[in-house]
Amino acid sequence: MEKLPRLNWNPTYSVGLEFLDAQHRKLFNLFNQLSSTAESGSGHYLPVIRGLVDYLYFEFHQEHMAMMMSNYPGCSRQIREHQKFTEAVEGFLKDFANDSPGLGESMMVFLKSWIVDHTVKLDVQFGQYLLRNPQIHELIKNYQKTLQQAPHLYVVNS
Ligand SMILES: [Fe+2]
Ligand SMILES: [Fe+2]
Repeated sequence: MEKLPRLNWNPTYSVGLEFLDAQHRKLFNLFNQLSSTAESGSGHYLPVIRGLVDYLYFEFHQEHMAMMMSNYPGCSRQIREHQKFTEAVEGFLKDFANDSPGLGESMMVFLKSWIVDHTVKLDVQFGQYLLRNPQIHELIKNYQKTLQQAPHLYVVNS
């Protein structure tokens, strides 16, 4: 397989919350790992894709928590975009299971553009919202440890 792209996280992609930035950097690294595995031609990259996708789902959840706690007006759009991504990936994984030729490369192209576009454009808008609302920003920064320690904690509006 020809040389596949790599992603480089850049400080301008920061959303101003270290735990989300760390997750985004990890996503970029997982993508690069996937590129290397695919390039090696071993054909064993399904577990790597699954690892990346599982990590993305975890990351989505943490973002939802931070956005809900921040009363972020773009939260429902984020949830919709994450949902669309989830559906697309499930479609890819189904095709992969059916052994569609060339699937690896088309999924790589999709993953790369989605990760970059979403992280750089949509997630960064959340960071801009936090910058405009310093009190909320502080609150979320204080909550990040709790969020990291309790990834399955949901906020329920009563
Ligand atoms: Fe994100
Ligand atoms: Fe997001």
